[in-house]
Amino acid sequence: MAELSRETHLRVIQPRMLSHWQQGLLLQLLAKLAKPKNILEIGTFTGYSALCLADALPPNGELHTYDVDDEMLEIAQSFIDRSPRAEQIFVHHQSALQGAPTLGKTFDFIFIDGDKREYPDYYRMALPLLSNGGLIAADNVLWSGKILNTPAVGDKHTRALQEFNNMVAKDSSVEKLVLPLRDGLTIVRKK
Ligand SMILES: C[S@@+](CC[C@H](N)C(=O)[O-])C[C@H]1O[C@@H](n2cnc3c(N)ncnc32)[C@H](O)[C@@H]1O
Repeated sequence: MAELSRETHLRVIQPRMLSHWQQGLLLQLLAKLAKPKNILEIGTFTGYSALCLADALPPNGELHTYDVDDEMLEIAQSFIDRSPRAEQIFVHHQSALQGAPTLGKTFDFIFIDGDKREYPDYYRMALPLLSNGGLIAADNVLWSGKILNTPAVGDKHTRALQEFNNMVAKDSSVEKLVLPLRDGLTIVRKK
């Protein structure tokens, strides 16, 4: 994982998109507690969080991860190929919004970490695919504190994250908590 982090910092323009190791550990712990058969990830990037989450899979479990950026997926796949979980990790070069609903699977853990402008759409797409008792984790929900203020004109990222946060807060079909870890991680449990 240290090598993956180093490679990302050397080769990628926005290495800050990488999950921090503390967050990777938290995701892994949450996923292990959820005992997921299937995991869905929206936003593979260079594969760090996928590899953290895959550690929670049982031998017959699957992790499906989606990204629209083929350059990132090339790096991700090269590290996933070296993982003992490689056979269980399915990397899809497609928008999760289009791809995930066509898999015909339900998921026990879903990690939302794609394009911030699409968070409300991810939530609408993910909830029906989540098993009862399953967990969603969504990253960057505090967006460096910008979600507290009126977004600047044209700031679609902040606006969409505010909409996402309000959707989750009002959704009585789930239990939820915003953890102020790094850029904010929302944990949602479907009742
Ligand atoms: C913050 S990065 C993901 C970081 C990764 N989860 C990690 O922790 O290392 C966001 C990624 O989402 C991808 N993305 C953007 N739109 C997407 C979509 N509709 N479906 C899936 N991935 C998308 C971007 O290409 C980018 O690589």
